[in-house]
Amino acid sequence: MSQGRRPLIAGNWKMNGGLDEVDSLAGDLAGRMAALDGPPAFELALCPPFPLLPMIAARIEESGIALGAQDCHGAEKGAHTGDTSANLLAEVGCAYVIVGHSERRADHKETDDQVRRKAEAAQAAGLCAVVCVGETEAERDAGRAVAVVVGQVAGSVPEGSTSRNLVVAYEPVWAIGTGKTATPQDAQDMHAAIRAALGERFGAEAAAGIRILYGGSMKPDNAAGLLALADVDGGLIGGASLKADDFWAIAEAVR
Ligand code: PGA
Repeated sequence: MSQGRRPLIAGNWKMNGGLDEVDSLAGDLAGRMAALDGPPAFELALCPPFPLLPMIAARIEESGIALGAQDCHGAEKGAHTGDTSANLLAEVGCAYVIVGHSERRADHKETDDQVRRKAEAAQAAGLCAVVCVGETEAERDAGRAVAVVVGQVAGSVPEGSTSRNLVVAYEPVWAIGTGKTATPQDAQDMHAAIRAALGERFGAEAAAGIRILYGGSMKPDNAAGLLALADVDGGLIGGASLKADDFWAIAEAVR
């Protein structure tokens, strides 16, 4: 990390968590934040499933932990059964919304174009869009990883994005939930390629301020190595964010 980018450690709870577990998880993390001596070197965010958002918002109030959602619709409002607007997410206290996660790109056939519209809706609602990109194993094996990811960035990141309303999360699909992680060199190379692509579009200075998270089997034992990389500005954590000890250990690996 560098250039004054405050590392973001975001927990993506996915479709996990019953009422009791998540109440104690969020309460535990809020307690750890309160016990810190000074301001932490990291920013912490929790992204629970939709129905839990107001409850977690209340649990982490005043703790300094930010709230995020896992998806939003690209339209402001309307007849979209089962979807949720970015405006409503902002109203219930979200600061972030993940868009274009590879599980949504796969399960719901989301395209770059749809992801970009979701990110635009998020930004218009005053939220910071966490735009996810990442190559499959076959694409990496074919030597196309950088081209695929840079293409996703081009198609999914809205015009006019800034360091305040955009975070990019690089999550190699083959590393998600598998226990495999990118090597530090591969992660750094990809993050640098993403930043260069952002620089071509928004200018080097703006790109230098935009946070690029790594995601995919980040755990306490590999976090320090990944988070120390020049262009890695935090993590999007799935499995390990469901255990307070593990999630906190990852946050504390920020130096
Ligand atoms: P994982 O998930 O940490 O369980 O690999 C990361 C993600 O999909 O955001």
